[in-house]
Amino acid sequence: MILLSDRDVERILDMKECIEVVEEAFKNLGLGNAIMPLRTTMPIEEFNGVVLIMPSYIKGLNALATKIVTFYPDNAKLKLPIVNAYVIVNNPKTGVVEAIIEANHLTAMRTGAVSGVATKYLAREDADTLAIIGCGVQARTQLWAVITVRNIREIRAYDIDRKRREEFVREARERFQLKVISTENVKEAIEGADIIVTATTSSTPVINYEWIKPGTHINAIGAFRPDMREIDGKTVLNAKIVVDLREAALKEAGDIIIPIQEKLISRDHIYAELSELILRKKPGRVSESEITLFKSVGLAIQDSSVANHILNKVRKQL
Ligand SMILES: NC(=O)c1ccc[n+]([C@@H]2O[C@H](COP(=O)([O-])OP(=O)(O)OC[C@H]3O[C@@H](n4cnc5c(N)ncnc54)[C@H](O)[C@@H]3O)[C@@H](O)[C@H]2O)c1
Repeated sequence: MILLSDRDVERILDMKECIEVVEEAFKNLGLGNAIMPLRTTMPIEEFNGVVLIMPSYIKGLNALATKIVTFYPDNAKLKLPIVNAYVIVNNPKTGVVEAIIEANHLTAMRTGAVSGVATKYLAREDADTLAIIGCGVQARTQLWAVITVRNIREIRAYDIDRKRREEFVREARERFQLKVISTENVKEAIEGADIIVTATTSSTPVINYEWIKPGTHINAIGAFRPDMREIDGKTVLNAKIVVDLREAALKEAGDIIIPIQEKLISRDHIYAELSELILRKKPGRVSESEITLFKSVGLAIQDSSVANHILNKVRKQL
C-alpha cells in the first residue's frame, strides 16, 4: 500500500494538471459516469467535533476513493490541527486499499482547481484584476488556480486578521512574482476587480453588491453550512449562479439557501451546474456585463479524481 503525506502531495501536484483532472471528473459526473452519494456529516457532540465522509467512484477515470475529514475546532487549545483529512483509495475491481493519502493539501488543491474550471468558463477573457477575501489555507490555491487560467496583473488581498493578510501578501509576491496589494477593507479590494474569491470562515456576507462592477466573476468557496454565507442577497439575486451540484448546494450552501428562505430567489435561480457548462449544454458567460457567481461546497469526485491522478504519477516514478 502507498502512504503519502501532505508534503508528498505538495511535491507531486501541479495546479494546471489538477484543473484538467477536476474538469474531467465533472465531465464524467455530468455524463452519468460517476457514483457519488451526498457527503455524510456525523457530529460528535460531546467533543464539539464533526466527521465528514465522502465516497465516490468515477468510472471513466477508474477512480474509487473515500475522503474522511474531521473538524474539531477545540483542537486549537490543544495545539492540534483543527482539520484532519485523509483519502483512502481502493482498487475499483477488487476493493483492495491501494493508498492512504493525507488530504489537507489535496483538499486545498482540488478546491482551487474547481474554481479554476469555473473561472475558465465564467470570467471575462480579459479579466486581469483579482480580489481575494480571506487569506487562509484555501486562499493560496484559489490564487494559484485563477492565475493559471487568466492573465492576472494585479491581486488585492483582504483578511480581518492583519497578520494573516500580510503573510499571504508576502508569500504570494515571492511565489508568483506578481503585484499583490494588501487592502484595509473588503470594499477597497473588490472595487474594480474583475474576479473575486471569497474564502473566509465568515457566517455573514462579506460582499456588498454596490461595490461590484458589471462583468465581475465571483468564486464563493467559504460558507459550507446552511446558516453561513459570504455573499449578500442582492448580489445573489443579480448574478448568474453556477453551482458544483444543485442537490449539494440546496442542502449545504447558505449563500443559496438563505435567499431562497427569504423568498428573494427561487430554486430555479440556479442557472447551471458546472458540468453543464463543461458539456456545452449551457453557455457560460454570454456578455461582458453580466455578473457570474460560482458557489462550491466541494464534491467527493474532486478528491477521488485528484487522488487517482497523484497515484498514477507516483506509480510512474516507482
Ligand atoms: N468549497 C469547498 O470545497 C471548500 C473546501 C475547503 C474549505 N472550504 C471552506 O473555505 C473556508 C476557508 O477555509 P480555510 O481552510 O482557508 O480557512 P482558514 O481558517 O485557513 O482561513 C479563513 C480566513 O478567513 C478570514 N476571515 C474570517 N472572516 C472574515 C471576514 N469577515 N472578512 C475577511 N476575512 C475573514 C480568517 O481570518 C482566515 O484568515 C472555510 O469556511 C472552509 O470550510 C470550502
